[in-house]
Amino acid sequence: MYIMDVPIKTNINKKIKYLAFIKTYGCQQNVSDSEKIENVLSAMGYQITNVKEEADFIIFNSCAVRKNAELRVFGNVSQLRKLKKKKPNIVIAICGCMTQQSHIVKKIRKDFEFVDIIFGTNTIEILPKLIKSVFLKRDIKNKKFAQNFKDINFKPFEILQKTDISIENLPCKKENKIKTFISIMHGCNNFCSYCIVPYVRGRELSRKSESLLQEFEKLVKTGCKEITLLGQNVNSYGKTLDKKISFTELLRLLTKIEGDFRIRFMTSHPKDVSKELIDEIVSNKKICKHIHLPVQSGSNKILEKMNRKYTREKYLKIIDYTRKKAPELSFTSDIIVGFPSETYQDFEETLSLVKEAKFSSLFTFIYSKRKGTLAADMRDNVPYQTKIQWLNELLKIQKNISSNFYQKFLGKRVRVLLEKEKNKKNIAFGKNSENLTVYIEDCSEFLLGKFVQVKIISQNNRVLRGKILHKNS
Ligand code: 5AD
Ligand code: SF4
Repeated sequence: MYIMDVPIKTNINKKIKYLAFIKTYGCQQNVSDSEKIENVLSAMGYQITNVKEEADFIIFNSCAVRKNAELRVFGNVSQLRKLKKKKPNIVIAICGCMTQQSHIVKKIRKDFEFVDIIFGTNTIEILPKLIKSVFLKRDIKNKKFAQNFKDINFKPFEILQKTDISIENLPCKKENKIKTFISIMHGCNNFCSYCIVPYVRGRELSRKSESLLQEFEKLVKTGCKEITLLGQNVNSYGKTLDKKISFTELLRLLTKIEGDFRIRFMTSHPKDVSKELIDEIVSNKKICKHIHLPVQSGSNKILEKMNRKYTREKYLKIIDYTRKKAPELSFTSDIIVGFPSETYQDFEETLSLVKEAKFSSLFTFIYSKRKGTLAADMRDNVPYQTKIQWLNELLKIQKNISSNFYQKFLGKRVRVLLEKEKNKKNIAFGKNSENLTVYIEDCSEFLLGKFVQVKIISQNNRVLRGKILHKNS
């Protein structure tokens, strides 16, 4: 369904400014979904505000990957109780991965009865109907609306825990963005034993390449300079399509589009990385030299229990093959510490892999038991204090590795996309192809959204500072 099909007869009109506040938790997929929500709300006449207290509509796009993320959402929702008392007319909604789980929905209904709307990850297109039904319900005493209300299938509090996708084309209104995302696929088929994502986002489904090409071209035409292709496992793109196409072929197709832009993508799964893909990334100038390749653990025993379907040897082979061709290409990774049955010996295997892989950055997580996953039935036997100790040990080692990686850029010339204008201290910043942030101190001209050549003049840990050599280069 297209958003424009939904007649909105609320009292939203051009004279009265209705404000919406969107808070996003979790991964880039959620950031991308929130962009869609923003587009839907804008089409309804809402303006986006960063100030929760002044908003008429508040929406939390939640994350369920770890317990902590859930607790943060609950904490922030509970703070809205006071606001709702003060401003009873505001509409409050919760969506995203948390609300795909029925025990969470029950809890929200029980503990946070002031929440008006709950919906899942794949039903953004019905948001206008849900908002409309809240307005109508509030006006139900007014007989005039009673008839209308009966006609509405969706009740406030509607929960559509759909895990199939019906949306190819939510309104795409992303003009004037320097960088943005395109979801090239939805869901995940991998069922890593610790992960809730396949349960809340459903089975893997790739979007048609024709539709991606169209959306991509449109973005490039409107001046977008960096587009990140999103999927839980982009390497398996195309497998669900009738017209078979690989991720490498998709990259070739998109980078043939004319224009000065670059492509990023995430997330890659080590089990599906091919030499062909690495060769394309290395040789194609429009593809950024950065691969986010979550390893999760360096122990083959733990990798097997995690159902990751690769070994540490295979993982390190990918890194080795790539580095021989592109020594400066940056790898980042995710690691979980304290998985059920993990011993210090297993953890040492992770440390040794990290030392060998030389990631530019690492995202580290303490194992968090997720109801309904395969690992939830394993005994979570590593004490919390031990998990924290291991995490700190890992972070300490990675800090030096990151610093050494960044140091390699000292004195070098890099191409930076300026994404933040200079601040009061005259410092602007952007990222290079390897996804490292570069601060530029002498940025006197208006160069926002432009690629600039920068010489790196200093490095401190993960902070690179540079001077502009040429603009528009
Ligand atoms: N506990 C801890 N970390 C997790 N991740 C996913 N599920 C869990 C979990 N149950 C981490 C993985 C994944 C990243 C997005 O979140 O490292 O790559
Ligand atoms: Fe979760 Fe594994 Fe799928 Fe990533 S690949 S979303 S970790 S199940």
